[in-house]
Amino acid sequence: MALLFSPLVLRSRTFRNRLWVSPMCMYSAVDGVPQSWHRTHLAQFASGGAGLIVAEATAVAAEGRISPRDTGIWTDEQRDVWARIVEDVHDRGGMIGLQLAHAGRKASTWWPWAAEGGSVPAAAGGWPTVAPSAIAFEGFAAPVALDAEGIEQVVAAFAAGARRAVDAGFDALEVHGAHGYLLHQFLSPLSNDRSDEYGGSLENRARLLLRVVDAVRDAAGPDLPVLVRLSATDYAEGGFMPEEAATVGRWCVAHGADLIDVSGGGTVARPRIDLRPGYQVPFAATIRSGGEVPTGAVGLITTAVQAEEVLASGAADVVFAGREWLRDPHFALRAAHELGGEVEWPAQYLRARWR
Ligand SMILES: Cc1cc2nc3c(=O)[nH]c(=O)nc-3n(C[C@H](O)[C@H](O)[C@H](O)COP(=O)(O)O)c2cc1C
Repeated sequence: MALLFSPLVLRSRTFRNRLWVSPMCMYSAVDGVPQSWHRTHLAQFASGGAGLIVAEATAVAAEGRISPRDTGIWTDEQRDVWARIVEDVHDRGGMIGLQLAHAGRKASTWWPWAAEGGSVPAAAGGWPTVAPSAIAFEGFAAPVALDAEGIEQVVAAFAAGARRAVDAGFDALEVHGAHGYLLHQFLSPLSNDRSDEYGGSLENRARLLLRVVDAVRDAAGPDLPVLVRLSATDYAEGGFMPEEAATVGRWCVAHGADLIDVSGGGTVARPRIDLRPGYQVPFAATIRSGGEVPTGAVGLITTAVQAEEVLASGAADVVFAGREWLRDPHFALRAAHELGGEVEWPAQYLRARWR
């Protein structure tokens, strides 16, 4: 039996397989409210057999959006629209999680296909950004360093966002601690030069992330899985390192996280990455520490055979894919067909199962 199609139990949820949809921003929301694009986009992966769909980086506060077009979870209206999307996914036999995010110093930027790049000026709807320290990301406006009260507000925003996500019916919550966004900005010495209890030692740099994990676990209750996405490396000298990420991963689990989704990069504008198939899988293996910390691997995993090999190697418990799902929203059906795995086909599609 293919490992990829063996179920995974996390707390009260049994995920039907281990080929999951990685969170992907669609930059198509209006005032943080998901639109019809999101509804069809996310539901198609459920019909396509995904074990779990993690919906895009969704801001817990308006100023935490990467761009003005990001989805949000800071209002009841946003929650109610998400609830309908959750229902659509459940109707198709799928499960869906939400990535809770705050972009920090990388907020208020143009969406990728906008005519301009960099920070959105106030006149065009941009807003001032916050970060651990007043250190700008290359090419972006300088952020304001968060004071003690600002940090409390961030924790409260994650808690409120998590509560709304639970109320919307999501099957899992993912804390976005990666890609150079706010929580990762605290983790990385390249973006955090604070001298208080949130800067300096690894314990201090991880303090905000762990407070957020505590708050999200509290909102999730004992039954709902909580994932944490980490960048295992900054791909830059003096930055956050895989050994530190392994320690932080263990701390997250001790604080109630169920799985670490292991990504990389995002702190510097021109990282030195050796891009090749499965380039981040070794980081998932490091953080997994032989099975002590459940992990997900992500990054250029594009075929069923490759995904199966990642699991067989013991590097990860699940495989996340991003772009392959965009090329083929039925990636899991195809993978099951190729590996001879068991997947619940939508009755409407059964004629494609065998030949
Ligand atoms: C269109 C697009 C949007 C993305 N948005 C997010 C996001 O919201 N949150 C996140 O953690 N990663 C995001 N990513 C990164 C993916 O989740 C994934 O980690 C990355 O694409 C590598 O996996 P892949 O090679 O399978 O695509 C995005 C990637 C793409 C292509």
